[in-house]
Amino acid sequence: MSSFTIAPVTGALGAEIDGLDLSQPLDTDTVAAMRAAFNENHVLFFRDQALSPREQIAFGRNFGELGSHPYVEANPDYPEILDVITEPADRINFGGGWHSDVTFLPEPDLGSILYAVDVPSVGGDTLFADQHAAYDALSDTMKELVDPLVAIHTANMQYGGKGYSQRSTAMVTRDEAGAAASEVEHPVVRTHPETGRKALFVNRAFTLGIKGMHSGESRALLEFLFAHAVKERFTCRFRWQPGSVAMWDNRSVQHYALHDYKGEWRRMRRITIKGNRPT
Ligand code: SIN
Repeated sequence: MSSFTIAPVTGALGAEIDGLDLSQPLDTDTVAAMRAAFNENHVLFFRDQALSPREQIAFGRNFGELGSHPYVEANPDYPEILDVITEPADRINFGGGWHSDVTFLPEPDLGSILYAVDVPSVGGDTLFADQHAAYDALSDTMKELVDPLVAIHTANMQYGGKGYSQRSTAMVTRDEAGAAASEVEHPVVRTHPETGRKALFVNRAFTLGIKGMHSGESRALLEFLFAHAVKERFTCRFRWQPGSVAMWDNRSVQHYALHDYKGEWRRMRRITIKGNRPT
């Protein structure tokens, strides 16, 4: 087994892993130890990696089958890779708001692995928020209210005809009609399939409403949950360098790609690990 160190980056979530070369094959024990660190810290960071697209794909496959984005064009040579690019003139960026990835799908991704190719001279950090901590911090009365609720998620606000992501020039979207029509139900509180911990599972980008509530009730409750879920004390923030890697657990984390670097390029490569239906 390869030995590596795990250094938490905040009291909430996130850990930096040192001592591994992700371009090399990893043995079963090392992958199991990484999975344990992943489940405990929810987002893992690696520095100074040099990953070709093939090596990134091979690394990702240690953790499950890889997925692809239904509404954004993949890299033409590698269908598993989504090039997450912001051009200097772009007014918006991909992932520029708090969200969990693709919660508009019946089986949202288990997690994502993002590799930094080119980063701006300053800015372009990614923020992460621990949704277990957010759930745990609710009062018992609020937990009783939200525990049985079901939310409706859609891709429409992001990838429908008038969606936020239509305004990106660097990322090419597809199937606007499919995105506009997409609706799926998920529990507001999901149980992590590996740790058994409960996590809030609603996000501003994709959650449309709460099933069975009047729209005013649903809006008020979701507004509270969206704001509560990303309070500073549940978050960490990652400063990228070329060759940095972040691997996050989409079942327990929300993330936010900051766009505070107007006039510069940011080029990342993302792969995603397929997940199961949230319960
Ligand atoms: C994403 O939401 O997957 C993009 C994150 C980032 O570019 O930092």
